[in-house]
Amino acid sequence: MKFLLTALLAGFVAADAHDERAKCISQSQPNPIWDVYPGNITGTINSTIAILPIPYSLARSIIPAKYTILKNAYQSLLPHLAHDMYPAVLQTVRDHEVRFGEYKIDDFSRASIDFPFVDLLGDGHTSFRWSPTMLITAANQMAQHGAGEYGTTVYPATFEPECNAYEFTEDGQSTYFRARGEIDGKEGLVDTIFKSAERQPADYAGFMSFLINATNQPSFADGKQCDYYVRLFNTTLSTGENAAVPVQGSVRAKMNLFDEEMKWDSVFGVRVDTAFIENHLYSCEGLRGFDGIGEQKMEIAWPHEPATTNSTFLPAFSLSGMQVLANYLISPIKRVVA
Ligand SMILES: *[C@@H]1O[C@H](CO)[C@@H](O)[C@H](O)[C@H]1NC(C)=O
Ligand SMILES: *[C@@H]1O[C@H](CO)[C@@H](O)[C@H](O)[C@H]1NC(C)=O
Ligand SMILES: *[C@@H]1O[C@H](CO)[C@@H](O)[C@H](O)[C@H]1NC(C)=O
Ligand SMILES: *[C@@H]1O[C@H](CO)[C@@H](O)[C@H](O)[C@H]1NC(C)=O
Ligand SMILES: *[C@@H]1O[C@H](CO)[C@@H](O)[C@H](O)[C@H]1NC(C)=O
Repeated sequence: MKFLLTALLAGFVAADAHDERAKCISQSQPNPIWDVYPGNITGTINSTIAILPIPYSLARSIIPAKYTILKNAYQSLLPHLAHDMYPAVLQTVRDHEVRFGEYKIDDFSRASIDFPFVDLLGDGHTSFRWSPTMLITAANQMAQHGAGEYGTTVYPATFEPECNAYEFTEDGQSTYFRARGEIDGKEGLVDTIFKSAERQPADYAGFMSFLINATNQPSFADGKQCDYYVRLFNTTLSTGENAAVPVQGSVRAKMNLFDEEMKWDSVFGVRVDTAFIENHLYSCEGLRGFDGIGEQKMEIAWPHEPATTNSTFLPAFSLSGMQVLANYLISPIKRVVA
């Protein structure tokens, strides 16, 4: 424990000293919980999270064969997901004000495609999020090292925008995020463009529960150590005027996980900033039976008032609902042949 703390603090510097060094001006609000959990690493992640449906057979070929995929668990949250599809999760993120008490590290950006509901311990129950690859701000050695400690493949990368979670397009209608990196002479990239979702797809509640659930599963890469990472959706960063915005858009990704460049259109997600608590290099075995921190809800800011006050989360039976679902559940995937 003592060793861990020393190792951690080596990369952190006094919060005051840091502000002078930082060259990025962040639009993210400050970490609201650092003094609530002074003995833990805390921070904020201003992010866009989206479900990237992929054929189950593709997921099965990417996720190491020794791990079972807890299909029933994700299907219970996403009952409308086509049975031969698997929900991978895209996270494009700006980590801001990551602190350990009075100490903090430089902000950084990252992008990853994660694979939730993986049965790391083989207990048929505890869901882990496999996070094997990440593009991370090249200038932030500390962040790259931290991810590398799990065995994650890290692409040192540059980002557009450089210092923030996303940027609005000139017309103000969409947000974009671009990452470019390289490892062993191979290019990695993630490009996204999202606009506010105009319609409420059927089963939106389940969709949001899924995102909360998946992003709160402890993550791992080689399985030796786990990142017990709690993402909180209930602070001022995610509520009131900062409530989550549902988005729909396109994603392009190239990384070691896939044989070729991947492209998704009309995927749904959410733009939200959250606080987090991180228990770095946690024993995976110690998380056996982990069921989350209790029920969390996502406050949603719809761009338009729902048609009737009671129709916030439409039941899944209307034709238009099914068509929207068809867009993102049945034909979401295109392979781009280079
Ligand atoms: C998240 O980042 C965006 C883009 O920089 C910014 O406009 C927004 O205010 C941030 N959200 C919060 C809650 O800090
Ligand atoms: C904070 O850190 C302590 C000590 O490592 C740990 O026991 C506790 O679970 C952490 N709190 C949260 C909310 O993760
Ligand atoms: C947010 O949720 C966590 C976990 O359930 C709880 O410990 C904390 O008190 C909540 N914070 C607020 C501001 O409601
Ligand atoms: C995720 O959902 C599954 C299935 O409903 C549940 O067993 C598990 O406790 C949830 N995990 C988290 C981290 O919320
Ligand atoms: C909304 O639901 C409430 C409680 O179920 C009900 O009393 C109310 O009449 C409903 N309003 C509309 C517009 O349907």
